[in-house]
Amino acid sequence: MKMNMETQWSMDTKIIHVNQRPDIKTRAISHSIVPAVAYAFPNVESAAEVVSGKVDGTYYGRYGNPTLQMLEMKIAALEGGEAALGLSSGMAAISTAFLAFLKTGDHVVVTKDVYGGTFNFLTSLAPRFGFDFDFVDCTKVDAIKDSIKPNTRAVYIETPSNPKLTVLDICEIGRLCKTYNLPLIVDNTFMSPYLQNPLALGADVVVHSATKYINGHGDVVAGFIVGKKDVIQFMRKKIMGDLGQNLNAWESSLILRGLKTLALRVGRHCDNGQAVADFLNVHPAIERVYYPGLKDHPQHELAKKQMKGMGGIVSFEVKGGLDAGKKFINALQLAMISFSLGDPETLVQHPATMTHASIPHHEREKYGITDGLIRLSVGLEDAVDIINDLEQALAELPTHIR
Ligand SMILES: Cc1ncc(COP(=O)(O)O)c(C=O)c1O
Repeated sequence: MKMNMETQWSMDTKIIHVNQRPDIKTRAISHSIVPAVAYAFPNVESAAEVVSGKVDGTYYGRYGNPTLQMLEMKIAALEGGEAALGLSSGMAAISTAFLAFLKTGDHVVVTKDVYGGTFNFLTSLAPRFGFDFDFVDCTKVDAIKDSIKPNTRAVYIETPSNPKLTVLDICEIGRLCKTYNLPLIVDNTFMSPYLQNPLALGADVVVHSATKYINGHGDVVAGFIVGKKDVIQFMRKKIMGDLGQNLNAWESSLILRGLKTLALRVGRHCDNGQAVADFLNVHPAIERVYYPGLKDHPQHELAKKQMKGMGGIVSFEVKGGLDAGKKFINALQLAMISFSLGDPETLVQHPATMTHASIPHHEREKYGITDGLIRLSVGLEDAVDIINDLEQALAELPTHIR
């Protein structure tokens, strides 16, 4: 009997082929876009079987569509999970994951170094749902242990974190969660399934903003959750379906197309990210660089162990604080001032006046978001051009700081 080659495929091959075969009827290699909302059944019994979940299938657009189904199966395979759920944004994925594990009176431990939208969800909406949270320094596993309460129902981390690039030990935190029987949820947005697979390291649920590297072209807002089949089914039927945060077939199609070049894109993002970090790290006008690929990053060894590459996000502080930070950003010519990341274009943002402006100054400092901090999403351009742009903008700063 012939061996099934599929089980031996590398990640690069899986990204293109896994769970995506030519259409049986048309033999089309590229996926079909099926925007239909409703699906016809031969009899009421078969409709009942699909709606109850006894038989897999699509029945109403708010719960999924065939184009998205193909994408969900690909994402699940790439993350090494049983099933995946595609949603209308990364925040829809994150809020659905919280809502699946927490109800009134429950508590969740959350890494203190968390994406601003997740911070906002917890500080503004979670109290209205009646669940409590603690932001904890998750680089210290004892701090997580100390913050677990009798009503704690989940641990939520993001690694590497946005925007400080803190790397957390998924294996170690996963082991702690197992001893307390708590699900570990990991935001894997910065890595994409290409660079890190949290489920294989001991996490229970992975969330993604597919708006970033997974789609990779800056033209779709989307999110994914990956985990056990029953958990995903509960999220689909009981949370996403009722809140209505579904992902449509058109956007699923764009992601299916974007995903095919994930390996190539992410490889280039990593190479360019390292080149930019190395350049900034020795520049006299730079106070500090945050990039896990630098030897002096506090979790450099851990990053090498748990990540297949260091990613394309480089954060840094220019000397001279707020004014110098703003002057530098405004002087950039190639990098564009923008709130997103993971796109082909190099994007720059200033957390203190942009993504984290709503957080009071003293709170921002507590989370390490200093006035001079700048986040660069290093794009797919020629690294030399990106570096030249940074160099000319740094040359605009007052001579006493460079
Ligand atoms: C790490 C991380 N998680 C989640 C999100 C939220 O994703 P979306 O904008 O798709 O809702 C973002 C957005 O920047 C992010 O950076």
